[in-house]
Amino acid sequence: MTGCPRPVSSQRALSASAALYQRALEVLPGGVSRNTVLRDPHPVYAQTGQGCRVTDVEGVTRVDFSNNMASLIHGHCHPGVVAAVTEQLERGSAFALATEMEIRFAEHLARRNSGFERLRFVNSGTEATMALLKASRAFTGRPKIAKIEGSYHGQYDYAEVSQTAKPSNWGGAEKPASVPVAYGTPAAALADVVVIPFNDPERALAILDEHKDEIACVLLDLMPHRVGLKPADPEYVAALRDWTRAEGALLVLDEVITFRSEYGGAQTQYDVQPDLTALGKCVGGGFPVGVIAGRADVMEVMNPLAENLLFPHSGTFSANPVTMTAGLVTMELFDDAAIARLNALTDRAKQGIADAIRRTGFKACVTGGGSMFRVHFKERPPRNYREAFMTHEEDGLLKNMLDHLFEEGFMMINTCTGALSTPMGEAEIDALVAAIEGGFKKLQGSSRLEAAPQQD
Ligand SMILES: Cc1ncc(COP(=O)(O)O)c(C=O)c1O
Repeated sequence: MTGCPRPVSSQRALSASAALYQRALEVLPGGVSRNTVLRDPHPVYAQTGQGCRVTDVEGVTRVDFSNNMASLIHGHCHPGVVAAVTEQLERGSAFALATEMEIRFAEHLARRNSGFERLRFVNSGTEATMALLKASRAFTGRPKIAKIEGSYHGQYDYAEVSQTAKPSNWGGAEKPASVPVAYGTPAAALADVVVIPFNDPERALAILDEHKDEIACVLLDLMPHRVGLKPADPEYVAALRDWTRAEGALLVLDEVITFRSEYGGAQTQYDVQPDLTALGKCVGGGFPVGVIAGRADVMEVMNPLAENLLFPHSGTFSANPVTMTAGLVTMELFDDAAIARLNALTDRAKQGIADAIRRTGFKACVTGGGSMFRVHFKERPPRNYREAFMTHEEDGLLKNMLDHLFEEGFMMINTCTGALSTPMGEAEIDALVAAIEGGFKKLQGSSRLEAAPQQD
C-alpha cells in the first residue's frame, strides 16, 4: 500500500476510481480484498488488459510491469489462453469428477523437472506452501519448520512468521526472533518456527543444529523478493541441502515466483535437488493456482489409497479444469526460447537501470534474476532481510518513484520490482529505464516519509 488514503470526500472532482472506492469502503474493510491494490488517495480500478498493457476505468493505459504480482507470464488475454479457457468454460468449470486436464498438466510439469515425481494441484501459493509444510511434518513426524528471515510464503501461520520483522523485534543476528504477522498468532506456532538468516550458511547451520531432532523441513525461496530479490548463493543452498539430508529433514523450495526463471524452475541453476517444491502464480495462466511437487515417497503421505494415510489432503476447486487448461496452454507457450528471450530482456532492464544510476549518481542499486528485477534505494545490494529493510527515507523515495512511474505510464510491484511478460519488447524496457532515470533526477534531494508496504 502507498500510505493512508485521504477521505474521498476531500477530493475536488470524484474520478471513476474514487467513486468506486467510496462504494467499496462500505462493504470491504479498507475498501479492498488485497492490500496491494491500495494507492494514495484511492485504488485505481482496472477496466481491461491486453498484452503488456492495462487500461483503467479513467481510460488511462499503462505498461504492466507488475503482472499481477509476477503471476502473468504472457501478460493479459493471450489469445491462445483465452480460446482454450473459453472452450473449457463452455464444457463446465468445476466438477466433483476428475478431468483429463489435470493429468495432462501434471504430465507437462513433470516433464519440465525430473524431481517432480508426483504432483498435486491446489488453489494458491499460500495453500501450496502450507500443504508442503504439513506433508513434511507427516513424513518426518517432526513438528518444526525452518524458514529464512523476512521471506514471504503466503499466509499460513507457520510460513508467515518473521515476514514483517523489524529492528525493534527481530532480535540478535545469531538468533533471529520468531515474529508473528497476525495479532493472536498462537505462541505454540511461533515456537515451532526456526528463523535463519539468508545467505549466511555458518549462522544458519548453527541455529538449525540447536533444533536438529525437531525440524521437519527447511523452507527456502531461491530469490526471496522481500529479502531483496537477490539469488541464493550456491554454497548456501548446498549447505542447507547437506544439513537437511544429514539430519533427516526435508528441503522444501518455494518456487511460486522463481519458477518463471528457467524451464524447470530456478532450482535447475543449482547443483541440488530439493525434496519438495511449491509452484504458483504464473503456472496458473492467470487463474488461481498452487502446485505441490516432489519425491514420490514423500508425496505418498497424501495418498488416500495407502494403508496408512498420514496427511489427508483435498480442496473443492483443486485441479479445476479452467485453471488446468489455462496453466497447460500458458506453460506450453513458455518454452526455452521464450524464457531465454524474457531473461535477456530483464538483463537489458537491469543494465539500463544500473547505467541510469551511474549517470545520475543517485544512491540506488538493482537486483534480480530470471525475468524479475528490483530497484533499491540503497547504495549496495542488500545481502539479507535486515539489509533490505527500508529506512523511513528509503521508503519515502520508493513511494515517490512508484508514483512517478505510475504517472509516466508504468505499473510496478510496490517494492519497485518489475516482472516481465512475453508481449514485452525492447521498446517497453527502454521506455521504463528512461522513466526510472527521470525519476532519479526528480527525486534527487527529495524524500517523503510514510509506512512500509505490504505485499502478496
Ligand atoms: C514466494 C511466494 N510464495 C508464496 C506466495 C503466496 O502465493 P498466493 O498469493 O498465491 O497465496 C507468494 C505470493 O506473493 C510468493 O511470492
